[in-house]
Amino acid sequence: KLIVILNGPNLNLLGQREPETYGYATLADIEADCAALSGELGLVTRFEQSNHEGALVDMIQAARGDAAGVIINPAAYTHTSVAILDALSAFDGPVIEVHLSNIHKREAFRHHSYVSARADAVIAGCGAGGYALALRHMAGLVSG
Ligand code: DQA
Repeated sequence: KLIVILNGPNLNLLGQREPETYGYATLADIEADCAALSGELGLVTRFEQSNHEGALVDMIQAARGDAAGVIINPAAYTHTSVAILDALSAFDGPVIEVHLSNIHKREAFRHHSYVSARADAVIAGCGAGGYALALRHMAGLVSG
């Protein structure tokens, strides 16, 4: 089964960007970890990143009828994007929201997530390891 893993704006800079908040793993490191783990779990992953809201909407629409589940770190669009929420609501399978940092421990404007209204699970504050936790949980949700 295919799981689409989507990453929003500025996550292409992981490893260089505020490492005290987001860690030293790069997005390529996380992609490699997800590819290895998905093999173990009997899943296939498509790992994508965009800095553009509409491109992320297109990627979510492309998952319709194609992917069994979506894992998404919408980054700053978490806190602003009704368009990403609506696109996820048009997707039938499970959705897991991931944040590297614990958004609830940070500035007040990061405490609200539009995407959480659709997410079946939310993982925040586990750093890069949150993606692996999401994939393991997703494997259970899409099994059978
Ligand atoms: C983030 C948290 C967001 O508030 C922030 O805008 C990001 C990354 C995280 O993974 O912790 O870009 O989604």
